[in-house]
Amino acid sequence: MSAHGSPIRMTSRKGGPLSGVAAVPGDKSISHRALILGALSVGTTRITGLLEGQDVLDTARAMQAFGATVTRTGPGAWTVEGLGVGGFAEPAEVIDCGNSGTGVRLIMGCMATSPISATFTGDASLRKRPMGRVTDPLALFGARSYGRAGGRLPMTLVGAAEPVPVTYTTPMASAQVKSAVLLAGLNAPGQTVVIEKTPTRDHTERMLRGFGAEVTVEATPEGNRITLTGQPELRAQEVAVPRDPSSAAFPVCAALLVPGSDILVPGVSQNPTRNGLFLTLREMGADIEFLNEREEGGEPVADLRVRHSALTGIAVPPERAAAQIDEYPVLAALAACASGTTVMRGVHELRVKESDRIAAMARGLEACGVRVEEDEDTLIVHGLGPDGVPGGATVATHIDHRIAMSFLVLGLVSQQPISVDDGSPIATSFPVFEDLMRQLGASITRD
Ligand code: S3P
Repeated sequence: MSAHGSPIRMTSRKGGPLSGVAAVPGDKSISHRALILGALSVGTTRITGLLEGQDVLDTARAMQAFGATVTRTGPGAWTVEGLGVGGFAEPAEVIDCGNSGTGVRLIMGCMATSPISATFTGDASLRKRPMGRVTDPLALFGARSYGRAGGRLPMTLVGAAEPVPVTYTTPMASAQVKSAVLLAGLNAPGQTVVIEKTPTRDHTERMLRGFGAEVTVEATPEGNRITLTGQPELRAQEVAVPRDPSSAAFPVCAALLVPGSDILVPGVSQNPTRNGLFLTLREMGADIEFLNEREEGGEPVADLRVRHSALTGIAVPPERAAAQIDEYPVLAALAACASGTTVMRGVHELRVKESDRIAAMARGLEACGVRVEEDEDTLIVHGLGPDGVPGGATVATHIDHRIAMSFLVLGLVSQQPISVDDGSPIATSFPVFEDLMRQLGASITRD
């Protein structure tokens, strides 16, 4: 089944080395937040490098539905005329967040402390995903939610007319939950506190500060204690979105796998809450150089030079899971071509992503002739070495962009081509994936 329109079957096959520059698009997490914080600010926020993937476009449309003026002024260049904290209007239409868990959960957060109601929906993948993880803490502010069984979309959220501040310990490692609570705290009086046992991506905290909110982070025995002072006046900003490390992961892994490859991936965020994959790859023997390390748009970035490498399976430290949570699918594909076994533990959150990513990777790898083991919290891939993956399968992607891209990367080195049943969801996060990979020399076709 496709995200939007008909399924697009795609196939990748072995070819020559990859070379050239892989300029991947803007970071998805930062792009959502730039639009949302712009809408919550006074004045005109100017964004450059915005990811123009479907997930982010859906958030842009949602911000308009709440009353902000969002305008595209050029490729990746957008302006948002904001409404100020507490300034959202009640949308006249249902908010369709498409495939995006980040979009819906963050938007629920930022309307939950305003006296308005909104009804949210999404595609078949998003309608299966749990929303209770955000509506539970939002209820503590005084918001009420009415959804389908199991806290699924479609769902109506009735914002609190007289919100109270909240102290909340996140029960799972989730930046979306943390962010929803902090965004709700913006329009509550006093201090809202989020305690997270495991640090997750910190873009909301960084960007809230950049827009003028008071946010402090204190390391405590319980974990990071993040305190937001409510009812700030957020001021419009210029936001330069760095390139997405989660998108960079695909050309990086492809170059590591395809013999003779040597590519440059410029300007990739090296935020320590996002760079777990690069640490893991280096431990597996990857030849990655971090060049020209600098700061861009408030984030540490580097240019990555990546060369084909002999890779060895490792046990990935479970405490690194949050810093590479979106990269496990492509890591699992890469691990299939490593020598030895790669053990990924502490990864149960993968079960509630765009698809159940442990199951989707396990079934897909098995179809390609790779032996895997899984339990609720673990994925183990028994590597077959550089030329060992048979391939020759069509993999079910379950409306999940990262499953599709991971198997298309694996097909570049498997003995037989690999097809995915539907590559259309790739447009949610990496709309230029096919062109970019082809320019590097990869053979990826639509059937
Ligand atoms: C995101 C947080 C993560 C991640 C998602 C983007 C964000 O989700 O998987 O792709 O931008 O906050 P969780 O909060 O569910 O871990």
